[in-house]
Amino acid sequence: MDVYASAFPTSRPAVALVGAGAMARVLGLRLAQAGYPVCAVVSRTLSRARTLAEALGAPVASDRLADLPTAPLVVLAVPDDQIAQVADSLARTSRSWAGAVVLHTSGAVAASVLEPLRARGARTLSFHPVQSLPAGADAGRLDGVTVGIEGEPPGVGAGIELTAGLGLRYLVISAHAKPRYHLAAAMASNLMVTLMAMVQEVLASIDVDRAQATALLEPLVRGTLDTLAQTSPEEALTGPVARGDLGTLQAHGRALCEALPHLAPAYAALSVETVRLAVRAGTLPPERAEDVLALIERMVAVPLPPRAAPPPAGPATPEASADAAGPLPADAERQRERSHTSACGPAAT
Ligand SMILES: NC(=O)c1ccc[n+]([C@@H]2O[C@H](COP(=O)([O-])OP(=O)(O)OC[C@H]3O[C@@H](n4cnc5c(N)ncnc54)[C@H](OP(=O)(O)O)[C@@H]3O)[C@@H](O)[C@H]2O)c1
Repeated sequence: MDVYASAFPTSRPAVALVGAGAMARVLGLRLAQAGYPVCAVVSRTLSRARTLAEALGAPVASDRLADLPTAPLVVLAVPDDQIAQVADSLARTSRSWAGAVVLHTSGAVAASVLEPLRARGARTLSFHPVQSLPAGADAGRLDGVTVGIEGEPPGVGAGIELTAGLGLRYLVISAHAKPRYHLAAAMASNLMVTLMAMVQEVLASIDVDRAQATALLEPLVRGTLDTLAQTSPEEALTGPVARGDLGTLQAHGRALCEALPHLAPAYAALSVETVRLAVRAGTLPPERAEDVLALIERMVAVPLPPRAAPPPAGPATPEASADAAGPLPADAERQRERSHTSACGPAAT
């Protein structure tokens, strides 16, 4: 086998899209801009298939999978829970799948869901652009984006070739690692949105409306992301936990518990991780960290996680990187007295 052979018959093979939602639109536009002719859009709703096909200059628009033309590259951009069913239906059609490349775009579902097509000779993979794509987003939304690629070697090779054609980066991941890979992406995107919703709720409680909150927070959040892009979380961390400023933390805790007690558990959980980070960064001495943890624990009756042993020295392994979160600062043997006060117990005195 020629190891330098392309996975595709031409450098810009024709593409057939299944799905007409956010991902199909963005990937379809990016493919079309990069010179891949989009020959069909097939989706559940004919009007949506037609709208996207028109935008991409695709000659075929349909709501029937049987109308999918034979194309060297087939993209399944349907909801996660529909991928298996669509793959199964396509594998039952009479067309030949030998040599075709079929990918789905889910970060959570393994490429093995495409097994019926692989069994018929297709090269299969999951091809997951790590980006959040709202409805109506355009191709530029993929600028600088990395694609998580997972699957059997022939499919992975095709995926890598496709990222080159689209001007994207890639990261090859195993099926075993995929849940944690997707967990990380979901935490970075979804939990950040939740955090910002919490922050806006705090501001709303002092009559700062959403537009004012956005104006207030945007430079701060962008500045923090800029710093994080250039350095590590340890170096990027600033603020009262990093400084061990108990007075400020006490005031924050009181304000939260008085006005927005339902946010206290999430605040406490994130603050404990912030303590761990500050200790790792070396800005918060372990003894001072104990005081901060005790303050957090008095604010909310959230049991702190058990003390972990220090991570072993040596090269990073998946297990070691799980430990790399690092220990909480106190003696692992020490039994912590639990506070049994209500969710917002008395603040430190
Ligand atoms: N959006 C993101 O931010 C994002 C990011 C990374 C990965 N992804 C992944 O990309 C995939 C698609 O997500 P999306 O956000 O594009 O979803 P979406 O906006 O809901 O679009 C899904 C599309 O699939 C069509 N569809 C649903 N069931 C179908 C079926 N059985 N046969 C044919 N078409 C069907 C829908 O039909 P209609 O024609 O009725 O609309 C719709 O056009 C998912 O695997 C998702 O995890 C999404």
